[in-house]
This record gives sequence, structure tokens and C-alpha cells, in this order.
Amino acid sequence: MSSNRYQTLKIKEIVKETSDTITIHLKQPLFRKIPYYAGQFLTLIVKDTNGKKYRRAYSLCSAPHLDSMLAVTIKRVEGGIVSNLLNDTLKAGDKLEIMEPIGNFVLRTHPDNKRHIVLFGGGSGITPLMSMLKVALSYEQNSVVSLIYTCRNEESIIFKNQLDKLKEKHGDRFNLIYVLTQPKTDLSNQDNYFEGRISKEFIKNTLEKLPNTNNLEDKIFYLCGPEGMMETIQETLSEINISKDTVHKENFFAPVTEENNTEKNTSDSRKTVKVVLNGEEVELNVAPKKTILDAALDDEIDMPYSCQSGLCTACRGLCTSGKVTMDSNEALSEAEIIEGYILTCQAHPLTDDVKIDMDA
Ligand SMILES: Cc1cc2nc3c(=O)[nH]c(=O)nc-3n(C[C@H](O)[C@H](O)[C@H](O)COP(=O)(O)OP(=O)(O)OC[C@H]3O[C@@H](n4cnc5c(N)ncnc54)[C@H](O)[C@@H]3O)c2cc1C
Ligand code: FES
Repeated sequence: MSSNRYQTLKIKEIVKETSDTITIHLKQPLFRKIPYYAGQFLTLIVKDTNGKKYRRAYSLCSAPHLDSMLAVTIKRVEGGIVSNLLNDTLKAGDKLEIMEPIGNFVLRTHPDNKRHIVLFGGGSGITPLMSMLKVALSYEQNSVVSLIYTCRNEESIIFKNQLDKLKEKHGDRFNLIYVLTQPKTDLSNQDNYFEGRISKEFIKNTLEKLPNTNNLEDKIFYLCGPEGMMETIQETLSEINISKDTVHKENFFAPVTEENNTEKNTSDSRKTVKVVLNGEEVELNVAPKKTILDAALDDEIDMPYSCQSGLCTACRGLCTSGKVTMDSNEALSEAEIIEGYILTCQAHPLTDDVKIDMDA
């Protein structure tokens, strides 16, 4: 089974952003441009030297309608399979299999909006924010964008040239703040550089002092970076009475928690699950502790998925009958949960009448 969710795209160019990060620029298909919103991610499907296939999610740093190519930026992870493979082996002219962009972490713009868009990024978490800030600065002329971006040092700032140029171009409409945990130079004379970590005090002080934002009552926050940083920011925003409905976050990695390590609440017997995919119905026999996605992949069913960690929603399906339990459902919105959507990479059937519609 296959669907047009999948495409093979040609690499136009690879740009080295920092010593451990590259950006891959992919040509759009000739006849049908791939649509996406700022903040969404592509799934890259890559083979290692033994022919084993892996899927990984990478946020698009390109901006819809502004950039002619699709671009993803990949930072090496120590010991990581795909991030190192991509950094070491890709070259212009190569082809990459992708699953089309999806994701709930999106910024939608409107020319009449007059608001303060606050972006907090850490390390490779800048990627979706880069796309967002480009569309916001271009399509919301009455809004102000603030980016607070933390990295280890000056050399690890991804997109530094592009960010500095955007600051030059948009002046008062773009507040750009770098927070370096281990700077290599003295930052005391540089207005937009700070040394240290993003602490509660830093966030409160910074938000209070950001220029040109006092008259903007509407605020919206996007966070993408290490879990600890995002938790500190969420707690601080809650302390200063920012509604949590206006705070959006994207996790690139599943945090290791005690809960993740404990035995999951699953059924102790095999269960039958029906899955509707591309209009066809297939039946799975799901063993205890296996997820619905595991069982489908064991049967070589071409289910959509990406992170397999409950972070990205690529494996989302609508549960139209029966009961399932999920290990984690962080990535689904409250509305999706109420409607009955589940993540097949996290879901275990509890009853024998479970039916999942992957086309819904
Ligand atoms: C929605 C979404 C968007 C993403 N966007 C991007 C992006 O734009 N750019 C980007 O570089 N990555 C992004 N990622 C992460 C990316 O999908 C991969 O997880 C990452 O490249 C590591 O893959 P790997 O195969 O190299 O490592 P793996 O072989 O999968 O992992 C190796 C080990 O390292 C651990 N690990 C992985 N990453 C980290 C980390 N940062 N810190 C500590 N331990 C880690 C893993 O848990 C594992 O134990 C995104 C992830 C999601 C879910
Ligand atoms: S594959 Fe990413 S949430 Fe299931």
C-alpha cells in the first residue's frame, strides 16, 4: 500500500550552518508544490549502509510562499543514527524520500493581526521558529516578533547571519536576543547578547523590557528547545498570568521520566484491531504490550509514522470503535482527544472491537 503522502525530492544544496549542523534545501516537485504551514515538519526516510530504513522528523526552517525550496536543518546528536548519517553522507543531487509536512505546532498569519509573537528557542529548536518568524515579519506588518534564542556559544548559533540580516531589515518589528550559556567572548558591550541560562527572572525582566510591545495586548508564545528550558518558560508565563491557551510548544525528544519507564497499563491478551488505511480495511492481531503501530509494521503495513515517541502526530488515527489506552498523548490537542483521535505509536487496544480510521 502507498499514498501520495510520500515523495522523493532532489537535494538542491547543502549548507553547513555550524560545525555540527547542516541545512538541506530540497527542490519542490515540478507540478504540485508541497503545501505546509510555518512550524510543521517533514519526515525523512533514510537507509543505512545495510539497507535498514529509519524515519525521523525534521521541522521545516523554510517559509511557505517565501522560500522556493523546502529546507530542513539537522544537528548531530551524539551517537544518533540518522542525524550523523545525514551530516556525513548527503550531497547536492542526491534524492531523499520524505513524508509530506504535518504537525500541530503552527503559526497562522493574517495581515490584520496586531500582536506580539514571542518565540523561545534552544539549539536545534530554532528550526520551526525560523519559518514562523519569516512568515510573521512578512505577512503581519502590524505585529512585533521577539526571538529569545539560547545556544552554547557564538559559534553554535544556527542561522546567525540570516537572523542578524532579518534584524537589520525589520528593525523595531523584530527583537532578537541571544542567550549564550558558555560564551567565548565578553558580551558586556553587546545589547542583544546575554550570558547564562534562561531563568524565571531573566524571562520576566526580558518580557517587561522588550521594546515596542507595550501597546500590543494580544500575545502568542511558541517554545521549542530542551524540555527543562520549556518547563521553566511555561511556569514563568503561568506565574505572570499568561493564558496557557496562548502558549504552544514542540518537543523534539521524549523526556525520560519515571512514568516512561514503568510498566504500561495494557491488556494481558492479544486483541484484534481493524485499521482503515487508504480506503482499505486490514485486521491486526496486537500482542500484549505491543502498540497498534508496532503490530502494523510487523505485518508490513505501510502505516504513516515518524518519531515513534508520541511527539509528532504522524501516526494519528481516529478511533471509531472500542477502547484503547495510550502511553503518552502529549502531541494531540484537547480537541483531537475529544474527537477520538489517538496516536497509534502509543496506543494499546483494551477491547476486541477497536477500529482505527487512518484516513480521517
Ligand atoms: C516534531 C519533531 C521535529 C524535529 N525537528 C528537528 C529539527 O528540525 N532538527 C533536528 O536536528 N532534529 C529535529 N528533531 C529530532 C530528530 O527527529 C531526531 O530525533 C534527531 O535527529 C536524532 O535522531 P538520530 O537518529 O540521530 O538519533 P537516535 O539514533 O534516534 O538517538 C540516539 C540516542 O540519543 C538520544 N537523543 C536523541 N536526541 C537527543 C538530544 N538532543 N539530547 C540528548 N539525547 C538525545 C535518543 O533518545 C537515543 O537514546 C525533531 C523531532 C521531532 C519529533
Ligand atoms: S509517530 Fe510520532 S507521535 Fe506517533
